[in-house]
Order: sequence, then structure tokens, then C-alpha cells
Amino acid sequence: MSPMPLLEIRNISKVYGSTTVLSDVTFTLERGETVAVIGQNGAGKSTFSKIVAGVVEPTEGEIYVDGEMVSLYPPRNALKHGIAFIPQELAYVPELTVAENVMLGRWPKKNGRVSHREMVRQTMEQAQHFGIQIDVEKKMSQLKLADKQLVEILKALSKRARIILLDEPTASLTDNESKNLFRMVGRLAREEDVGIIYVSHRMDEVFQFSDRVDVFRNGRHVASEPTRGSDHETLIYHMLGHKKENLDSIASRSNRGRKCVVELCNWSNNGIPTISNLNLSVHEGEIVGLFGVRGCGAETIAEGVVGLNTDISGELVFEGNTRLLFKSPREAQNAGIAYVPPDRKKQGLVLNLSVQTNTTLLVLRKMLNRLRMLDFRKERKLTQNLSARFNLKYQGLWQSVGELSGGNQQKVLLSSRLALAPKLLVLQEPTRGVDIGARLEIHRELRAIANEGTATLVVTSDIEEAIILCDRLMIMRDGQVMGELSGETKTQQEALRLASGGA
Ligand SMILES: Nc1ncnc2c1ncn2[C@@H]1O[C@H](COP(=O)(O)OP(=O)(O)OP(=O)(O)O)[C@@H](O)[C@H]1O
Ligand SMILES: [Mg+2]
Repeated sequence: MSPMPLLEIRNISKVYGSTTVLSDVTFTLERGETVAVIGQNGAGKSTFSKIVAGVVEPTEGEIYVDGEMVSLYPPRNALKHGIAFIPQELAYVPELTVAENVMLGRWPKKNGRVSHREMVRQTMEQAQHFGIQIDVEKKMSQLKLADKQLVEILKALSKRARIILLDEPTASLTDNESKNLFRMVGRLAREEDVGIIYVSHRMDEVFQFSDRVDVFRNGRHVASEPTRGSDHETLIYHMLGHKKENLDSIASRSNRGRKCVVELCNWSNNGIPTISNLNLSVHEGEIVGLFGVRGCGAETIAEGVVGLNTDISGELVFEGNTRLLFKSPREAQNAGIAYVPPDRKKQGLVLNLSVQTNTTLLVLRKMLNRLRMLDFRKERKLTQNLSARFNLKYQGLWQSVGELSGGNQQKVLLSSRLALAPKLLVLQEPTRGVDIGARLEIHRELRAIANEGTATLVVTSDIEEAIILCDRLMIMRDGQVMGELSGETKTQQEALRLASGGA
């Protein structure tokens, strides 16, 4: 075995205009090693990954692979050196099938023509090899977010890389899917000496699957320690630069005497899973959670409430008026319902527009002055207020949202929905990709908004979030509500027991 490290990064910096995003980063990866990269939103983790993947060119510094100085930019150079990258923002062609995407750029040919049959065969073989279950002939656009992520992972794995970089690979995967993924890459590390770098906000995952943890803070690489010798508190300290505040549960209220804002009566559908005779209500000031594994039916319920899913029979009582379901998102929004979708890139934000425009997009009509012209001052003020509430990290209100770090994009998404001052707020996975500190801030803000009277329905597959944030928690499994937890009965153990249908 060569004594040189697999990958060595020396004194890398990245500057955009007048902002230094990474400064003087030095990092080493050995063969067969799995390194977790952690840090707060905007710390520079994705920028670092993109430099290693050749997507971003460093302003300064040197990179060595097997002891040889290399240039990894652009991506085809990185690929040449055996580096595969699974980015935070998925890059796929929606109109193509899974197989076509996995084999993109290397479609197999037969007699000079692309052979679809061969492509499907090879992709299925790869999927099987890595234990990924997916219909390879489906179009990408028809897949759920988590499955898209799996395809992206399959694409990288099938390239036989020596270094695999994963930027928040499990943000939209369930616990089981995450475990499978790590089992898969763990095997590659052990058996094929592949080096793995993964960015994560999930501490449990860091402790379970990494050999070493590297911490970024404000664009600097501030710590690198063997995972075994480290602990939660130390890592948080490195991340924040100070100790963490206590994370008390912020739930506790009872809905007695409070007005019911929304009530779902006898909801049923013929989907997968099948929902039958589901009833649910959310009161003023109350945060109700729907918790379960992906595909438990909670998403369908949320989409039904906001007018995105109309294949449901049943009634909706909204603000005392009994009616059928809303027929469109617009109708629901006009009635006073705001919706935070699970996929901020696809349904939520317009990445090439500014922070300000994204924040006010849904309320532009209210931003008109008497001459029916856009009142810029009003627009700016609203944006400033909301970004301050979420402690948004950005360079200016005119910066495009695509330039913000993932967690900060999520904050803009939340701001844009709160701009509506809704009576009912429906959220799916509100803190996806958000760091530990910001997560606490978001939970606090959601509580503050509830305290102002908003009714909140939140779909989450994050058990900690479910317990901490929600006053009442409905546990779902296969389209059924398995139980309702609140107060003393609301524990992680009980929630997980009900969600898994186990005794
Ligand atoms: N093209 C760009 N132009 C200007 N600034 C940028 C650009 N790309 C990234 N940045 C800035 O660099 C900083 C680091 O961003 P990066 O995406 O690396 O953070 P991160 O650690 O991955 O955060 P998160 O956990 O939220 O994903 C952020 O402040 C971001 O706004
Ligand atoms: Mg990132």
C-alpha cells in the first residue's frame, strides 16, 4: 500500500467577490476511511465538497491524490481521479428514466445504437449489487425525493469511485434507508479501500458510521478527531465555538377552550397506503404533529389539506365552515393556509431570484402602493423582519437564494410562507438540512407563531423534532393513525413503538 494519503488538501481558500467562504483549509483522507464533516449552516461544508468534486475551483491551495499534485476542476477531472460526488442539490434529468440517469454519459451501445435493454440490465445489476430497491424504468420526475436521492447515490457508486463524497445524503431518507446507505458505503470502504467523506447534520449518524469527524466553523477547519475518542458535547463546542443551550421541550399546552381551526372528517382514499376514515383537528395556537416513516400516509394528509391532493373523499371544516376539500393550492392559500413543502428546490423557492423576491413572492399583491406600484420599502421591511426572526445568514437582500447555504435556503422558504400570516400553517419536514443551532431557532419561531394564534400541522419523520415541537402527536402507519400522544405519554419510545406497529 502506498504510504501517501489517498487525498490531501493543503491550505485551500475560496473567495467570492469580497467574501471569504473557506480559508486555509487542510484536510487528509486515508484509504478505507470514512470521515464525517459537520458544521453550522453556511460554515463552508458544501463549498469544500464541491472543491473536492471539481465543481468549484479553489482560489488558493493545493490538492494531492496518492501524493501527486492534481487539479480537480472541472468535474470531469475529479472523475478522472476517481472522485464521485453526490451533491446536496440533486442534479438529474427529470424527463429521463432512472436507468438513463444512472448511465448518463455512458449509455451502452449495440451495433452503434443505444441499447435500452442493456442499459436497464446493467442498472438493475448495479442496483442489486448495492442493495438499492428501485424501479429503474420509471421516469425520474415520477419518483419521490428519497428515491431520487437513492438514484443519485447509485449513479455515483456505479462509477467505481475511489473517493465518494456525499453532501447530506440522508436528509430525505428514512432511518432504515440511511442505515442501508451507510452499510453500503461502509462495505466499499472496508472491502475496496474507498475513502468516504460525508457531510451531515445528524449527530447519531456521525457517531454510528464515521471513523473520524472534521468540523468546519465560519469557513475554517477547526477540528479533526477520531470519532471514538470524541463526544457530542465536544463536537457541538467545536461547531458553535461555545456551549450549547439546553434543549427543553417547548411543547406543553392543552387545547381546552381554544377554537378549532381545522377539522378533517372521515378522510379516505384508494391510494398507497390506503387512508380510511381518518379524523383530525388542529386548534388555535396548537402544534399538531403527524409522525411516521416515509410513505405512512402523513404526506398525503398534508397535501390534502392544502389542496394538492384531491383524490380524497371526506369533509374539511375550516374556521367553522364545513366544506369539501380545497380544489387547488391557490384556493387553500386564499382561505388562509400556508404550506411549506418538503422539497424546497422543486416546489418552494426560485433559486435564481433574490432573498427579498423569494420572501415576498406570495404576498406581492399586498406590497402594492396606492398607485399599484411595488412598494419597495414595504417589501424590504417585511423581508428584513422575517430574516431577522430566523437569523438568516446572507450578504444582502439582493443576493440570489441559490447562493445561500442549504440551511439558509430553508429559512427563506419558511419566511416566505410566514409572510402570508396564515391561520393554518402546514409544514413538511420543516428543519430538513438545518443545523442544530438553527433547528432550535426554527422550533422557537414556530412556537412563537403558534402563540400568536396560528394553528400548525407538521409532518415530520424526525422523532426528536416530533417530541420537542408538537403539543399533540398523531402516529401514523400504513395510512392509519395508530395512536395520539401528548403530555406524559409523548415519549420517543412510545412514538417509535406505535410507528413500527410493534408491541
Ligand atoms: N456562488 C456563491 N457566491 C457567493 N457566496 C456563496 C456562493 N456559494 C456559496 N456561498 C456562500 O458560502 C458560504 C458557505 O456555504 P456552504 O454552502 O458551503 O455552507 P454549508 O456549510 O454547506 O451550509 P449548509 O449546512 O446550510 O448546507 C455561505 O455563506 C454561502 O452563502
Ligand atoms: Mg451545504
